[in-house]
Amino acid sequence: MRLMEQIWEKARSNKKVIVLPEGSEPRTVKAAEIIKKEGLAEVILIGDENRIKEVAVSEGVNVDGIRIINPRTYEKTADYAEKFYELRKNKGVTLEQAKEIVLDEIYFGTMMVKMGDADGMVSGAIHSTGDLLRPALQIIKTAPGMSIVSSTFIMEVPNSTYGEKGLFLFADCAVNPNPNAQELAAIAVATARTAKALAGIEPRVAMLSFSTKGSAKHENVAKVVEATRLAKEMAPDIMIDGELQLDAAIVPKVAELKAPGSNVAGKANVLVFPDLQAGNIGYKLVQRLAGAEAIGPICQGFAAPVNDLSRGCSSEDIVNVVAITAVQAQGLDI
Ligand code: ACO
Repeated sequence: MRLMEQIWEKARSNKKVIVLPEGSEPRTVKAAEIIKKEGLAEVILIGDENRIKEVAVSEGVNVDGIRIINPRTYEKTADYAEKFYELRKNKGVTLEQAKEIVLDEIYFGTMMVKMGDADGMVSGAIHSTGDLLRPALQIIKTAPGMSIVSSTFIMEVPNSTYGEKGLFLFADCAVNPNPNAQELAAIAVATARTAKALAGIEPRVAMLSFSTKGSAKHENVAKVVEATRLAKEMAPDIMIDGELQLDAAIVPKVAELKAPGSNVAGKANVLVFPDLQAGNIGYKLVQRLAGAEAIGPICQGFAAPVNDLSRGCSSEDIVNVVAITAVQAQGLDI
C-alpha cells in the first residue's frame, strides 16, 4: 500500500476534528466534500455561511452536514478573545485588540485548536507560511519536551534504491531560516520521530554539510558537528551521524570511502539540512529534477497539529494534508 493510502486508513480509524480557516476558498470547499465522503475527518469550515454555500453551488459541491462557523456570530468568540488576551497580554495585547484579532480566520482557527474545539488545523491555500505559523507559534506553542517547531517533507523518489527504497524525510525545508546547533539537533530528533510515526520507517538520520567527517573546516561545518553531538545526546536510541556530504549520506560506495563504519552513511533515509536555504532548495531540486512526490511541509513540534498548504495546492493536496494532520492528532509521538 502506498504511504498516503496508509495515512488515509489511519485517519479513518479514529476520526478527528480538523478546522479549515479558509472556509470560502473554492479548493478548500471541494476538499471538505471529499474529506466527508472519504470519512477522513470531521472538518469545520470557517467563514460566512451564505458565502461558503454560494461557493459550493458554483463549484458543484455539496456541503450539507459540514459544520460552518462564522467568528462574527459564534457563541464562543468572546471566550476566545478573553483567552487570547490572557495569553498575549504580556506581549502588549489589549482586550480590545484581542476581540479584533480573533475575528481573523487564522487566529480564530488557531484558538479553536487551543481551546480544544478542534484537534488540528490546516490552512495556507491563500495565506503565506508566516501568516499561518505565527499565530500557531504564539498560541499553540511547542509540545512538552520540544524546544522548537520545525517541518519535514516526506519525499517519494520514483525508481530509486536510495534511502528507504526511494522514500526519505527532508528537514527543515519550510520553517526555521537559520537554526543554531541546538535547534538543528532538535529538528533532527523531531524528524526521526515523524519518520517512525507517520512514514513507518526506522530512521537513519544524516546531518548534512559540505564536509564529511572533518574533510573541511568552517564555522558552518562546526555547527553541524555540534548539532550531531547534541542530537546523539538527546536521542541515544536513534541512529544519527554527521557531518556528512549528501553523497556520503546516501550512496553506499561513497560512504565506504568517506565514512567507513558509520551506521547511517550510505543508507540515510532522514536528511537534515544545515539551514532553510539548503533545505528549501534541496527538496525543490529533488521534486523537480527527480520527479519526486513531496508530501508536506508537515509541521512537527507543536502542542497540537497545525499544517501549512502551498498556495499552488489542489483540493487533493488539501485532503492529504488534512489526513496527515488527523493522524498527527491521534496522539502519535510527533
Ligand atoms: N519554534 C517555536 N517557536 C517559535 C519558532 C519556532 N521555530 N519561531 C518563532 N517562534 C516563536 C517566537 O518565540 C515568538 O513567540 P512569542 O511571540 O510568544 O515570544 C513567536 O513564535 C513569534 O515569533 P517571531 O519571531 O515574531 O515570528 P517570526 O516573524 O520569526 O515568524 C516564522 C516565524 C513565520 C516561522 C518565520 O521564521 C518564517 O517566516 N519562516 C520562514 C517561512 C517561509 O517563508 N518558508 C519558506 C516557504 S515554505 C515552502 O516553500 C514549502
